[in-house]
Amino acid sequence: MQREPGRSPGPAVINLADKLALVDAPWSPRVVATLNDYDVKVARVTGEFIWHAHDDTDEMFLVVFGILGIEFRDRTVELRVGEMIVVPRGVEHRPFAREECHLLLIEPRGTVNTGDADSPLRAPNDVWA
Ligand code: NI
Repeated sequence: MQREPGRSPGPAVINLADKLALVDAPWSPRVVATLNDYDVKVARVTGEFIWHAHDDTDEMFLVVFGILGIEFRDRTVELRVGEMIVVPRGVEHRPFAREECHLLLIEPRGTVNTGDADSPLRAPNDVWA
């Protein structure tokens, strides 16, 4: 298990609200833990993201604050606190939030937030909160 750089070994209790308070940019996921080859990330989002798909991986969103909308080509869903969704690989989606929304994401290490889209919203990977 990879641990947060600079942290002493030993499993830590991770407070998501505390971690989210450290996130200073929208649509910019921050790693809070790893398990096996996966990153656990938090993100603060507001406004509209871009249409994109992830050709190599499914993507999980869990809402911990606010409401997350996700547009698909054939429908739009709304997720509230405590609700989650897994977007299958290859499926085009466009997340949006009318007001501040906080998310937990679990995805393979190195997953790019903008997927196959070339966008200035592409966030650097492996940035810890
Ligand atoms: Ni995505």
